[in-house]
Amino acid sequence: AANQMWGGRFSSGPDAIMEAINASISYDQRLAAQDVEGSRAHAAMLASQGIISDSDATAIREGLLTVLSEIEDGKLAFSAALEDIHMNVEARLKDLIGEPAGRLHTARSRNDQVATDFRLWVRDQCDAAIEGLRAVQRALLGQAEAGADWVMPGFTHLQTAQPVTWGHHMLAYVEMLGRDAGRFADARARMNECPLGAAALAGTSFPIDRHATAEALGFDRPCANSLDAVSDRDFALEFLGAASISAMHLSRLAEELVIWSSAQFRFVTMSDRWSTGSSIMPQKKNPDAAELLRAKIGRIVGANVALLTVMKGLPLAYSKDMQEDKEQVFDAADNYLLSLSAMSGMVADMTANRGSLEAAASAGFSTATDLADWLVREAGLPFRDAHHVTGSLVALAEKEGCGLEDLSLVAMKEVDSRIDEGVFGVLGVASSVASRTSYGGTAPDRVREQVALWSERIG
Ligand code: ARG
Repeated sequence: AANQMWGGRFSSGPDAIMEAINASISYDQRLAAQDVEGSRAHAAMLASQGIISDSDATAIREGLLTVLSEIEDGKLAFSAALEDIHMNVEARLKDLIGEPAGRLHTARSRNDQVATDFRLWVRDQCDAAIEGLRAVQRALLGQAEAGADWVMPGFTHLQTAQPVTWGHHMLAYVEMLGRDAGRFADARARMNECPLGAAALAGTSFPIDRHATAEALGFDRPCANSLDAVSDRDFALEFLGAASISAMHLSRLAEELVIWSSAQFRFVTMSDRWSTGSSIMPQKKNPDAAELLRAKIGRIVGANVALLTVMKGLPLAYSKDMQEDKEQVFDAADNYLLSLSAMSGMVADMTANRGSLEAAASAGFSTATDLADWLVREAGLPFRDAHHVTGSLVALAEKEGCGLEDLSLVAMKEVDSRIDEGVFGVLGVASSVASRTSYGGTAPDRVREQVALWSERIG
C-alpha cells in the first residue's frame, strides 16, 4: 500500500529491500524524547502565532506526552513502513487524537525536525561528556593529592629520564582532560542554534516565530540560514572530533596503566573490580578494562572518519545520505561515555605502589641532569662541558654496576677535579624533584598548588 504520509502521488508501496535500506527507526528511536520535545515546542508556537487553534495545540501537546510514555514503557510497536521516529510518533499521535495530529507538521519538514532532534541529543552528550571528564579528573586529583611527593621515574622514549612525582604525572592527565572538557563546551556553544522552522530548506510562508521555538528548546538563537540549518552536520562532527581527541588521551593513560600494572613495573595495583583472571593461568590478573579503554578510540575515530566521509561532497541542502549520521554518533557517544565511567572507577580504585615507584626512580641514572646542573652552578662549567663530564661519570657507574651516588669522591675527582663532596647533595631523587620548583615543574609544592587550583575549579 502507498505511504500514509505521502501516498498521494504513489500507486505502490516500496520494495521490501527499499524499506530495509531506507528505514532508520531501528536506531533513530533513540531520538524519541527529543522528537517529542521539538514537536511540543513547535505546536505551542503554531498556536501562539494563530496558525493552529489553541485546542488543537493542546491536544497535540498532550497526545505527544502519551506517545512518549508509551515509547518509554516499550508499549509502542514501531513500524519500518513508517521509516523513522518522526513518522512513527506522528502516526501514533494520529491514532490517539485524530485530525489535529495532521496539523502538527504545518510549517515544518522532517529535514529541520531531524536536525533539531539530533542537535538536542548531541548537546546532551556534550554535557554528559563534560560531567564524565570531571569525574575522571577528580579521581586523578585524589591520586595526585595522596602522592604529591612520591618519586617515580619520568620517561622520554620510555627510557628513564628524570625523577618526577606521582602527583605531577597524574596532574598531566588532569590538564589534558581539562582541555577535552573545554572542547566539548566550545562545541556545545557553537551547536546551540535551532534549525526548527527552516522547514524543508527554504523557510516557510507561515508567520512562524523561530525565536520562540529556539528559546523553548534551550537554544541561544535560531540558525540564521535555512539551507545551512538542514544540511550541515558539523555539530556532530565537532562532537566526534572532541571525543576522538579525548579518547586518544584516555588511550594513553590506559596504556600507562597496562604497563604500570605489569610484574616488571609494579607501579600500580589495579583493583579486582577492574581486572579479570585467566581460564588457564591461575596467577593472572589482567588489566582488561584498561586494555578496552586503550582500544575504544578505534570505533570513535572510525565514526568521525565515517561521518566526515558521508558529508564530504554532498550538495546543499538535505540528502538522505545524512541519515547515516546517527548510528555512528550513537555508537561513538555510548562508547566514549562508557570509557569515561570506566576510567574514573579504575583510577579511583587503583593503588600506586610507593616503594616500587621510588625504587624505579633511582634506577637508570635519573639524576644525571641534576649532576650536570650542579657542575654548572657550583663548579662554573659551561653546560655542554658539564654534560660531557656527567656522561663519563654515568659510563663509569655503568661499568661498575652501581648508581651515581655510589661512586666514590676519589673516582669522581679522577674524571673532573672540580667535583667536591657537595655533589652528593643533588644525587638523590627526592632532592631532585624538590628542586624542580619552576612554574609547572614537578616539585611537590608545585603539585600541591595545582591540586588545590583544580579542586577549586571543578569542585
Ligand atoms: N530519517 C531521516 C534522517 O534521519 C529524516 C529526514 C528525512 N527527510 C527526507 N527528506 N527524507 O535523515
